[in-house]
Amino acid sequence: MSEHQQMTKTTPKDFLAATLGGLFAPGLTIFLIVMLFLGIQHNMGQTDPAPVAEKAVRERIQSFGQSQAIDPNVPKVELTGEQVYNEICAGCHASGALGSPKFKEKADWGKRISQSYPTLLDHALKGFNKMPARGGDPDLSDMEVARGVVYMTNAAGANFEPVLKKEVEPSAADLARGKTVYGENCASCHDTGVTGAQKLTDAKAWMPLIKEGKEFLYNAAINGSFGGPAKGGNVKLSDADTKLAVDYMVAEAKTAIAVAAKAPMKK
Ligand code: HEC
Ligand code: HEC
Repeated sequence: MSEHQQMTKTTPKDFLAATLGGLFAPGLTIFLIVMLFLGIQHNMGQTDPAPVAEKAVRERIQSFGQSQAIDPNVPKVELTGEQVYNEICAGCHASGALGSPKFKEKADWGKRISQSYPTLLDHALKGFNKMPARGGDPDLSDMEVARGVVYMTNAAGANFEPVLKKEVEPSAADLARGKTVYGENCASCHDTGVTGAQKLTDAKAWMPLIKEGKEFLYNAAINGSFGGPAKGGNVKLSDADTKLAVDYMVAEAKTAIAVAAKAPMKK
């Protein structure tokens, strides 16, 4: 007994250590449980990681994502001039902030309007002094910026149409050459729409493409894009001939669009 007593004889220091040790073990357990619980809560509070990853991917492919704008099944909702103005341009132009010409203020706009529409559009697209390119919104399409410019300038007395660069109409000779090139290199897909190519007479497919402008289509045809082979797969085809084929295709598509506009649209 005495031996036992000796062993358990506690000094205040031992007592303290034992108490702390005794408290520590359950304390650690409680701490871990709390952390686990918080961890679960934290994960639940966080949005599903899938959409986050998807967003990251979307951002990465954004420059290619423009093809969505020309996917006939997913028409991009284009803003009107008024919407573009209200959502983006008004930020400065409503008040004349940063020295911007104020909305409806003819004195502010007169001289600028006399610079001609193409210059104004160019400045709005590329930026001009403190005027940021596209009003600071890179997501605006060229056409949307053009509509914004027209909305503002017409409100100050101009009489512009929202058009992008004036396209030179191809000559009859160009179209004839284009038709030949098309027949030899492009018809195999675009006559029928095989492989997902836009059929030449498909007004609905070509309408949004034509709006993108000839430069865009030339680029797409020369470099290949979204499933279409570069130069229709014929590496020997010159850029010039490829462009003529595009000219021919656009002319044909425009005819198809005009016909479709007269007839009630088939669903
Ligand atoms: C952050 C402010 C800001 C926003 C937003 C903004 N602008 Fe401007 N804008 C300016 C300023 C400042 C000027 C005057 C630049 C100068 O003349 O030095 C200007 C000038 C212009 C001009 C005249 C250019 C010229 O050659 O005289 C046009 C056209 C224009 N803006 C169009 C737009 C359109 C369209 C939008 C919306 C899509 C827009 N702006 C949004 C600040 C802005
Ligand atoms: C092997 C089939 C094939 C041939 C041959 C072909 N294309 Fe295409 N083309 C496609 C496909 C597929 C697309 C893309 C459809 C899409 O965007 O979903 C396309 C799209 C296009 C577009 C629209 C651009 C775009 O972004 O969709 C143009 C313009 C075009 N082709 C021009 C040509 C020209 C010019 C030739 C001949 C020199 C040609 N293509 C030959 C399959 C073809």
